Amino acid sequence: MPVTVVVGLQWGDEGKGKIVDSLARTSDVVVRFQGGANAGHTVVVGEQEVIFHLLPAGVLHEGVENVIANGLVVDPATLLGEIDALSKLGLSLSGKLFLSDRAHIVFPYHRWQDKATESRAGEAQLGTTRRGIGPAYSDKVIRHTAFRFCDLFDESSFRKRLERVVSEKNRWQEFFGDGESILAKELADEYLDYFGRLKEYICDTSSLLRDRDSSGKRILLEGAHGTLLDVDFGTYPYVTSSNCTALGALQGSGLPLKTMTESIGVLKAYSTRVGSGPFPTELEGKDGEWLRERGREYGATTGRPRRCGWFDAVAARYAIELNGIDRIALTKLDVLDQVDPIRVCTSYTSEGSEVSSFPAEARVLEKVEPGYVDVAGWTKATPDVTRFEDLPPQAQGYVRRLEDQTGAPVSLISVGRKRDQIIHR
Ligand code: IMP
Repeated sequence: MPVTVVVGLQWGDEGKGKIVDSLARTSDVVVRFQGGANAGHTVVVGEQEVIFHLLPAGVLHEGVENVIANGLVVDPATLLGEIDALSKLGLSLSGKLFLSDRAHIVFPYHRWQDKATESRAGEAQLGTTRRGIGPAYSDKVIRHTAFRFCDLFDESSFRKRLERVVSEKNRWQEFFGDGESILAKELADEYLDYFGRLKEYICDTSSLLRDRDSSGKRILLEGAHGTLLDVDFGTYPYVTSSNCTALGALQGSGLPLKTMTESIGVLKAYSTRVGSGPFPTELEGKDGEWLRERGREYGATTGRPRRCGWFDAVAARYAIELNGIDRIALTKLDVLDQVDPIRVCTSYTSEGSEVSSFPAEARVLEKVEPGYVDVAGWTKATPDVTRFEDLPPQAQGYVRRLEDQTGAPVSLISVGRKRDQIIHR
């Protein structure tokens, strides 16, 4: 049965939430496989906006199982907050949510470290979400100072080890931070309390997923962030600390390679990014501001204004090839309804020569000259359109131009914020 992965192909915020929500309706299991509460997708249900930082988008659908897999770093307080918010809407996650016993735990000192490291970096700040993501993944790799959910089953060894780790983190905080310190006993009590509430969801999710796959269930792997924020292949160091690509989906979920059947890439009809880092097609000044307001481009997690710019087909081609994308979901086409002409970046030039592959170095990408083609706009409203043939001819032309440029077919087009404003092609 199909195992489909959905990933962002830009710098996150491509509108994956709505696409995943739409695909979740025909899935049996929806899986988050990387990142943490630095992600945020907004799904509009009726008149109500729901923002998830950790919960997979399948939680809103009847009969869908949801997995928070091994590849995540999970802040238990945030997760419980989301579970409680859903329970207030009358949705219980009992028997519907599974949290990996191998997922790593985010502690308050990770947020300190994130904040202090960013402040000390001055001009070289990455612009992180300050949710402690980098420090939590660092601890995972360092190992001595990391905790996974399975470590909470043995209370006395958890308390003992946490005491040692907290004393180390307190020393770090004294030296680099603002001197705030934590009492290990209080922190252990707090986290054991969270554990008590989360225990019913904790299990070996990799084995659960293999079991669901063998019994013919349809599995949807839901990427967070975007390919250009991937720690290995993104615009390093201006990236997040996890693998946000289809390549990372198997590692982060524990599904074998042979199970993967389809990869869908989400592209927004223009580009945005939050935080620092190179952005070749960025629009500065009034045009950028106009696009930000029109597209409501403010971070779902931090509320920060997003930087906005034209569609970058060079970066999109790179992301499509890297992920092995089969088809594209194009989002926010309606945001461009009043723009004429629309520019598409089709090449980069550096020191007079065309750049043939996507640069590894941020400082090179910072300086490339984008080459644009102008595409005719349509200056007509599209939010009520439900069939591709009914889009204005220029809008159809824009979609085809993106297909030509990126080499992948566009099979879903989103033309508004509501769930049903989506064209299946
Ligand atoms: P971190 O993931 O909080 O460490 O932040 C690292 C970089 O990734 C920063 O530039 C963030 O703004 C960016 N980032 C992290 N998560 C997201 C996301 O979900 N959407 C867009 N940017 C993100």
